[in-house]
Amino acid sequence: MPIDLSVEIAGVRLANPVLASSGTFGYGIEFAHLVDLNRLGGLVVKGLSREPMEGAPGPRVCETPSGMLNAIGLQNVGVRAFVAEKLPALRGYKTAVVANVFGSCLEDYCEVIRILEDAEGLAAYELNISCPNVKRGGVQFGSDPGVAAEVVGAARKAAARRPLWVKLSPLVSDIKGMARVAEQAGADALTIANTYPAMAIDAEARTTRIGSMTGGLSGPAIKPITLRLVYEAAKAVKVPILGLGGVESPDDALEYMLAGASAVQVGTAHFVDPRASERLVEGLESRCRQLNIPRIMEIRGTLRPLTG
Ligand SMILES: Cc1cc2nc3c(=O)[nH]c(=O)nc-3n(C[C@H](O)[C@H](O)[C@H](O)COP(=O)(O)O)c2cc1C
Repeated sequence: MPIDLSVEIAGVRLANPVLASSGTFGYGIEFAHLVDLNRLGGLVVKGLSREPMEGAPGPRVCETPSGMLNAIGLQNVGVRAFVAEKLPALRGYKTAVVANVFGSCLEDYCEVIRILEDAEGLAAYELNISCPNVKRGGVQFGSDPGVAAEVVGAARKAAARRPLWVKLSPLVSDIKGMARVAEQAGADALTIANTYPAMAIDAEARTTRIGSMTGGLSGPAIKPITLRLVYEAAKAVKVPILGLGGVESPDDALEYMLAGASAVQVGTAHFVDPRASERLVEGLESRCRQLNIPRIMEIRGTLRPLTG
């Protein structure tokens, strides 16, 4: 039985619903000798800022039960170097390349997008709003509906050429409300979600395990929590949702899609196996055949209630 794994996200057709997530797959090209990038539905590059950033002191990652903690400090080469040095090599691949964008104020976000608007070879923008707004006392853009609406609206105006995905923070009390705010401000798709603020301590050494004291928790440990966020958000908005948090296996991907996601992203799993997303595409095809799902898009949001 031929299996159709293709999905559409805000007008962009992807060969399959598996994308590598931002920050866990470099700029994509570093993985080209290990992974067949053409097999991926897409890849989201490391978050890009207006100027290069050196990032946080080490250690930057540590393992936690069923997951990992990271505080990279958004290290990146800066948007101009990305366009000049990384993007040209990515253009040769069939996979959709998505630019993850962040800033510490509204103007930063818009300037990064403005620079990317002049470049060829991108399928969409993904706005990371899980970062502090320095002009508003450090409150996360993604935790305050008013601030979130402002940054999404401004980015929407700047992003004339391409779809705008908005990556929501999981740190919200009302995910439905935040999803609606982003949709109304112009998001073409929502990525749900980022890491959870967390901490790991070494009792013997009496120190924290990462240089930044606290960091973001990711991996299988967060999957059930984020799955609910996707489920709730999908009931509240019409725009497509990309689900991520602990995706490793074909069933993880199917679970997110049953909850309402149109596609998934793979993050922490790349630290276990750099080929995790490519393997997931292969596994998804055979799992769909096994479960008699000829077109993967058809299962989106078809979660059934348990009947006793
Ligand atoms: C080392 C590391 C770096 C990350 N960097 C970014 C980033 O630059 N921008 C972003 O939006 N998300 C970033 N993330 C968050 C991931 O893209 C993803 O949302 C999160 O890890 C949850 O997915 P997972 O459980 O599959 O890892 C990073 C995650 C990790 C582990």
